[in-house]
This record gives sequence, C-alpha cells and structure tokens, in this order.
Amino acid sequence: MNPLKIHLLAPVLAPLLLGNLPACKPDASKAADDVTYYRDVRPILDRTCARCHTDAGIAPSFDDPAVAVAQAAAMQARTANGTMPPPAPDPDCREYADSDRYFISDADKAKIAAWADAGAPLGDAADAPTAPTPRTIAPFDIELIASAPFTPTFDANGDDYRCFELDLENTSAVYVTGFEALVNNPKIVHHVVLFDSHDQSLGDGTGGDPHEGFDCGGFGEDGWEFVTGWAPGGEPVAFADGMGLKLNAGTKLVLQMHYFNSFDGANLEQDQSGYGLTTTESVDERVYMLPVGTYDFTIPAGDADYESTLVFPWTYGDYDILGVFPHMHTRGSRFSYEIAHADASTSCLVQMNDWDFHNQITALYDEPARITAGDAVSMACHWDNSDNPNDVVWGEGTHDEMCFGFTYAIKGN
Ligand code: HEC
Repeated sequence: MNPLKIHLLAPVLAPLLLGNLPACKPDASKAADDVTYYRDVRPILDRTCARCHTDAGIAPSFDDPAVAVAQAAAMQARTANGTMPPPAPDPDCREYADSDRYFISDADKAKIAAWADAGAPLGDAADAPTAPTPRTIAPFDIELIASAPFTPTFDANGDDYRCFELDLENTSAVYVTGFEALVNNPKIVHHVVLFDSHDQSLGDGTGGDPHEGFDCGGFGEDGWEFVTGWAPGGEPVAFADGMGLKLNAGTKLVLQMHYFNSFDGANLEQDQSGYGLTTTESVDERVYMLPVGTYDFTIPAGDADYESTLVFPWTYGDYDILGVFPHMHTRGSRFSYEIAHADASTSCLVQMNDWDFHNQITALYDEPARITAGDAVSMACHWDNSDNPNDVVWGEGTHDEMCFGFTYAIKGN
C-alpha cells in the first residue's frame, strides 16, 4: 500500500483501525522512507560541509543537530544557489586531489531539499556515521609556530590580516616534500599563506618583534614569494615521492594569517598557528613554484564583469605542471588558466566559473600536465566591480586585486 496515502488517511481512520491494526505501523514505515539527519544528511554534511561547519570550524556547526535543523531551509537554499559549499576548481577541467570533498552532487542537494521539505526530521542517533579523521603528514621534520599568541582586532568587514616571521634555522638548503598548516584556532582562521620573504626586513614600522606579529594588510608584500596556502578543510600539500621545493639556508618565512570575525565573541579568541614541514636533503626532482599572472589591468568603476587576459609564451623548456593555487581577491568572479599548445590544442589547468575569496585551495593534479617550449599559457580573470565607485588596480591590499596562478612544476624529462 502507498505509505503516503496511509499517512494522509491516518488521522481520520486511526480511531476506527485501532482495534485490528497496530496504530504505530503507518508512521514506522514512513520513518523508514524519510530522509533523516543522522542517517542521510549527516554523511553529506561530513563530506562537503564539515571542513568549515563543525564545532571547531569557522562557520555555524552542523554537528549540533539543533543548529542543523534550524538551518535546514538555509542549507537547501544555499546548496541550490551554488554558494555552499563555496566554489572550487572544476575537476572536469583537470582532476585533482580531494576534489570530491569540495563539491556537492545533485543527488545530495536533492536529499538535503527533501529533508528540509519533510520538516528536517532527526531520525535515530544510532544511524550517525563516524566522523572522518583529518589527514596529516606528521611527524614533521620542521615545525614552525608563531612565537606569541595573537588576539585579532577585526575591521568593518570582519577581517584582520596579521603576519609572523618564522625562521627556518637550517644551515644548508632543504627540500620541502610536504606542508601542513598547523591551525591553532580554526574558529577564527579563514586563511593561511606562507611566503618566502627573500630576506627583506619585516615589520609594520611600529618597532615590534616581527616574530610576534605585525600588520600586513592583504596578500603579502612586494618581493615576497608565495610558497603554499591553506583554507578551512584544506588537506596537507604532499608532493609525490622524490620531489621537493627548495628552501635556501636560513630562509626567513612569513606566515600570513587571515582572521575572520565568525561569531559573537570572536574578538576575544586567541590564535598561535604555524606550519609543519617534511623535508629531505636531496630530491630526484626539484619542485618549482612559478608565479604566472598579470599586474597590468584597471578594473573600471561599476563594471559587473571585467575581464583581464594574459597570454604568456612559454620559453622555459619542458615542464610537468603538478598543480596550481589560483588567486584573486574579493572582487574576483571567474578564473581560467590553460595551456595553449603550439599545435593549437589546449589543456585545461584551472577552471572556476565562480570564485570565493574565502575558499582558496591548492589543486594538486592526479596526473601532471606537460607544457613544452613553444606552448603558451593563457589566463583569464574576471571581476565584479559593480558596487564600487572606484577603479581597482593590482596591489597586495585586499581591496586591490590580483590575477595569479601559483604554479607548481618540475622540469620535464
Ligand atoms: C570553506 C568553508 C565552507 C564550506 C565547505 C561550507 N560552508 Fe557554509 N558557510 C561558510 C561560512 C564562512 C559561512 C558564513 C558566511 C556566509 O554566510 O557566507 C557559511 C554560511 C552558511 C550558511 C548560512 C548560515 C547562517 O547562519 O546564515 C549555510 C546554510 C551554509 N553555510 C550551508 C553550508 C552547507 C550545506 C555546506 C555543505 C554542502 C557548506 N555550507 C559548506 C563556510 C563554508
């Protein structure tokens, strides 16, 4: 019999049927068909939302069933309109590590919608999946932590950018085979970026010890070189066996923290984050970080979809591209990056039809992409400047813009 019909008729028929039919039966069969929080929704949330929406995370915790139920309609709306989970590089362009965690399937969206429509039933707590354990590359060979805890002071946008000098006290060059952000207080950490300062003097002019932190208003400073980056839920970056990124003796690194005012009382929280590195003294293949991008753009005031393109002839010889960290700032809306081969074919490197400044991840490819001398790389950045009465140009501040693909590659054999 159709369970829906039973349910509709039940209130009317129940008194009549009580004698010959157990009254709970129609409801029990309905519960088995219902989408419940514990059995059906929680595994989806664990897979695609938990990297931010947990008790320890930057966004409201869906581990708390009461919060999840209260947010059911909002979950349905934000998964339907594509703003949650935040946009990430499209794996159909090029498959990369952990891409399945950055997207929600249409089937899972439909499940969340059905659950919200049914009034967000919790179901049986015994059906809850076991929480996934985060990956680590520990034990580390080098662990670098900011030398003092810091309490952020958020600006009107809810942001605070703070940098910490981290000294790699190595007396000879090392090759880094893996990077793992050691985020001390994930409730307020929106982003971590590690730069090589190239021995420039560090500080914000206030005379403080740069190891204990100094103001740095956006994405690095002129002359700093991007090394690696982390966003909530980002897994450690680990290169394939025999590969490593070279850091010279005595490298002065900069840990840039982007703190975010994620809840009432966030301004009372402290953080003391850092990075764990696995290193080796020699490698078969040195990994290079090649910053590909353009400084040459002016985004006109009020323009809702301004595009800047860059075509850059590849004169470096053969390389295998291992992965890319795409980077724009808050007005970014789309990003694409490809190899334009000499024979007029193309290989997609990164395609993002949407952009969220708060979700920047390193896409490390399952298979490297070969680029050869005579090819070109081609990049297109799009920005939405529609609500801004001012032109925007390149710069390190968050209200300036950037258009970069930080490209990890090894020399081709
Ligand atoms: C990369 C981090 C991240 C991931 C992954 C993520 N979210 Fe979010 N989410 C946030 C942040 C930060 C906010 C608060 C800012 C905002 O509303 O955009 C938020 C807000 C929300 C809100 C609104 C909450 C409120 O109180 O207004 C909902 C609903 C939501 N997310 C649902 C989801 C769902 C469902 C998923 C998984 C399918 C998901 N999010 C994945 C970071 C994330």
